[in-house]
Amino acid sequence: MSDLAVLQGKYDEAKAKNLALDMTRGKPGSEQLDLSLPMLDLVTSSDYKTIAGGDSRNYGGLDGIPEAKELFKEFLETESTNEVIVGGNSSLTLMHDTIARCISHGNSSSSTAWGKLEKVKFLCPSPGYDRHFSICEHFGIEMVPVDMIEGGPDMDQIEALVAADDSIKGIWVVPKYGNPTGTSVSDEVVDRLAKMSTAAADFRIFWDNAYTVHHLSDDVDVIKNLFAECKSAGNPDRVFVFGSTSKITFAGSGISGIGASESNINWMKGHLSMSTIGPDKINQVRHMRFFKNFAGLQDHMKKHAALIKPKFDIVISILEAQLGGKSLASWTNPKGGYFISLDTNNGCAKRVVQLASDAGVKLTAAGATFPYKNDPKDRNIRLAPTLPSVEEIKLAMEVVCLCVELADAEKNA
Ligand SMILES: Cc1ncc(COP(=O)(O)O)c(C=O)c1O
Repeated sequence: MSDLAVLQGKYDEAKAKNLALDMTRGKPGSEQLDLSLPMLDLVTSSDYKTIAGGDSRNYGGLDGIPEAKELFKEFLETESTNEVIVGGNSSLTLMHDTIARCISHGNSSSSTAWGKLEKVKFLCPSPGYDRHFSICEHFGIEMVPVDMIEGGPDMDQIEALVAADDSIKGIWVVPKYGNPTGTSVSDEVVDRLAKMSTAAADFRIFWDNAYTVHHLSDDVDVIKNLFAECKSAGNPDRVFVFGSTSKITFAGSGISGIGASESNINWMKGHLSMSTIGPDKINQVRHMRFFKNFAGLQDHMKKHAALIKPKFDIVISILEAQLGGKSLASWTNPKGGYFISLDTNNGCAKRVVQLASDAGVKLTAAGATFPYKNDPKDRNIRLAPTLPSVEEIKLAMEVVCLCVELADAEKNA
């Protein structure tokens, strides 16, 4: 029997198991969410004030309660609490709204609304986070893909592009344990981003530090502080740093924050005051009582690591056992975050995702990690191991690996 026929036979057997497994989105598992349940009892009908005695029930405090600003100062690595806004439940909303404001009004470096310009472009290191790309598409921002290489986005490409084209107004970067690669940027990338010359004075880096404390073990990635480097390079307004507790406490009911220069923060507050009289301070009080301080938050992350490290380990060990040494695929082995990135041989990713889906294993759509959902080499697949159980991941990964072998054999038949 040919290799293809053998693989097809194995695949048919897997299909007959009628699996229903889902590795599509980076959601915390329910046991991770359980870790934060005690937080729900920390604000009661008789105990809801901030440390300074502020009434968390009422309007006000546009940029967050003081103790939450202290926490986010450390979390986002700003120098002062004047460089922080603590908002509502979603950092993605902060990113979306920041771009919307630039489009309607320009930003603190130029009052020319991006929406009045003939063309606005964003650099999109790829593979990257699909929702960043959706925001660009939503606002008609042209996406310019940039390769991800060792150490992060290709800085040679970026420097050449931003220096030459003033319609390039921004770049997305997930600097630590990135979505989907799980890798972190090098110090050199941080230095060059801070120092590079940009043709657009109102150029902004959207530094989405979504996974900054999401280590899988004590072996952690440490990245250089871009905000500090931008200040030293004389470009303090260049960067907006984003983060949230979505994958620390409750995804959907966490608190989010933005760190930036005081002039960016004042610009932001001016706009924010048009859309809200203040954030959900009760939730901020709840979070602060739960963590107490940044060290408390970091301790809490160790409990997450204990739950999800075995899930990452099983993915890696099955990839190694089934695909290792076969020249069929390569994959990342991250020290943190929520994703493992699997690269098949060129032209196979769509077929793998289709085969897996037909066998009852849902994966993120192939191409989703690229601008316009177009992976030019059709090879990247994002694996999200946090939601399913270890046993489910084992079953799912065996199918995924089989599909990689089958898709490759089909292509070469
Ligand atoms: C890179 C990245 N940024 C932002 C988010 C969403 O964050 P939030 O829940 O704070 O909106 C995610 C969620 O998967 C993500 O992977």
